[in-house]
Amino acid sequence: MGQPIGIMDSGVGGLTVVKEVMRQLPNEEVIYIGDTARCPYGPRPVDEVRAYTWQMTRFLLEKNVKMLVIACNTATAVTLTEIRSALKIPVLGVIHPGARSAIKHTRTGKIGVIGTEGTIKSEAYKKALKSINQLVDVQGLACPRFVPLVESGEFRGPFAERIVEQELATFKNAYIDTLILGCTHYPLLEETISQYLGPEVQIISSGEETAREMSTILFFQDLLNSSSFEPNHQFFTTGSSKLFSQIASQWLELDSIQTESISLERY
Ligand code: DGL
Repeated sequence: MGQPIGIMDSGVGGLTVVKEVMRQLPNEEVIYIGDTARCPYGPRPVDEVRAYTWQMTRFLLEKNVKMLVIACNTATAVTLTEIRSALKIPVLGVIHPGARSAIKHTRTGKIGVIGTEGTIKSEAYKKALKSINQLVDVQGLACPRFVPLVESGEFRGPFAERIVEQELATFKNAYIDTLILGCTHYPLLEETISQYLGPEVQIISSGEETAREMSTILFFQDLLNSSSFEPNHQFFTTGSSKLFSQIASQWLELDSIQTESISLERY
């Protein structure tokens, strides 16, 4: 087996990127770290998000990864540029892929973005979208109740529907035609969000586009794994391995997933 790809998030959200990697890059082996014990990152000060993201980075580098994916919008907004310039391996975030995908899909140019407080405050999506097309109209909204909902495993059912309705009320008649799920946790709520906003709003999650970008970079840098062995993905969390495994198996549609609980303190 060749070298693995390292994927990180503050919790289970980055699994939405892992799912796409497993679909688009089935030969690649993934090492995933979710910092569940310190999730959510969204309301945390920038310096804390930076320090925690570096800890996850050092943990993954120790596993000899050939590529690093910051599958967390909050961490991407704060750290992508500095981590990318500090490392020799390719480092990808999730904001530009999501922005590109939204630009591709919008017809009216009215784009909504939902994310954590940190991501919305950073205006990273607005900047990314406007860097491609100055004329788009971007409306951002922080949805701080979504991440705890997903991390608790309660992302389907009437309770989730109620929270989605309350958080997204301002988007109900906002005439956006495209909504970016600017947090990797949110695709787990996609069905509920789409039902509430109706079929005229196209929902964009960055996982698909991120995996496509990974595929292109691996190809051009001659890093694709050519071995025919079944990849042995490894999952690590700083929180409860039981809850993590339960959500991961459900989301990735795998019978069972082994997750190891670890501490990031020494990194
Ligand atoms: N999944 C993360 C994101 O994409 C962060 C959620 C959080 O920890 O607040 O922003």
